[in-house]
Amino acid sequence: MSKILVVANQKGGVGKTTTAVNLSASLAATKRKVLMVDLDPQGNATMGCGIDKHDLELSLYDVLTAKCNIADVIMAAGNGGFDVVPTNSDLTAAEVELMSMPQRETRLRTALAEVSANYDYIIIDCPPSLSMLTVNAMVAAQGVLIPMQCEYYALEGLSALMQTIEKIKSSLNPELVIEGILRTMYDPRNSLTTDVSTQLITHFGDKVYSTVIPRNVRLAEAPSYGLPVLAYDKNSRGAVAYLALAGEMNRRTKSKKSAAKKASTNKVINKAAGTTTSKSATSQA
Ligand SMILES: Nc1ncnc2c1ncn2[C@@H]1O[C@H](COP(=O)(O)OP(=O)(O)OP(=O)(O)O)[C@@H](O)[C@H]1O
Ligand SMILES: [Mg+2]
Repeated sequence: MSKILVVANQKGGVGKTTTAVNLSASLAATKRKVLMVDLDPQGNATMGCGIDKHDLELSLYDVLTAKCNIADVIMAAGNGGFDVVPTNSDLTAAEVELMSMPQRETRLRTALAEVSANYDYIIIDCPPSLSMLTVNAMVAAQGVLIPMQCEYYALEGLSALMQTIEKIKSSLNPELVIEGILRTMYDPRNSLTTDVSTQLITHFGDKVYSTVIPRNVRLAEAPSYGLPVLAYDKNSRGAVAYLALAGEMNRRTKSKKSAAKKASTNKVINKAAGTTTSKSATSQA
């Protein structure tokens, strides 16, 4: 079964799209099957994967408004390596149309269920808002990846995001967790960056990825060529950082899986032991 992650932060320009595209490419480079879903009507992630948002015959809009199946809109990223559900400004209309549709919060979850068996990871890029689109993503996902720039106002906006996550957890998706907090455009020479970073670690502990994404001009240049940074300049600091993030994510996923397996084995053993104990207690009586 695939791991579905939503890249969200209602604050604009913090590196959501850069993370969605480059994490998808880096996970693909580690031999994982990846689907990236562009849930932002700006279509930046679509363009960043080398797909022209102006040329789309079908897009995520058609899926969410039940005009076609998700399999009909999936395309390969321009440089290969991973698949994309592309988007353009049509998706703005979906926001309005969804409001009067049944199951408006679960439409993306239902659509992804049709294809999730084909992927190890599904990465969803969100718009900078806590809109119905972002709600759809959080209902579909198991975890939220929060990119953050370590600056003064960064922590302020976080409480609204936490409240939204809690609300969705208590109503539509009890499995939802904060997967991790990613420090983006990180500059260790800036004392404000290190102060905010320390606060983040105090507050969120090991939810903060140990990988940080440095400010790197190659990351900003790559989308204009429709390429993930790995295909644009694989030796750049940005490319190396996103590869490290993919590695950290794979390790975390693996250790969570083995912890869950261990817990379920223990449960079986405890259950069996309980049965044996009660049987022997019965026979002694
Ligand atoms: N680590 C980085 N180093 C340098 N530039 C970066 C880095 N990460 C992102 N950028 C640049 O910063 C700008 C904002 O990044 P991005 O589009 O990924 O943010 P976003 O959170 O998706 O924005 P929005 O909220 O508008 O969707 C872009 O021009 C991008 O190229
Ligand atoms: Mg974006």
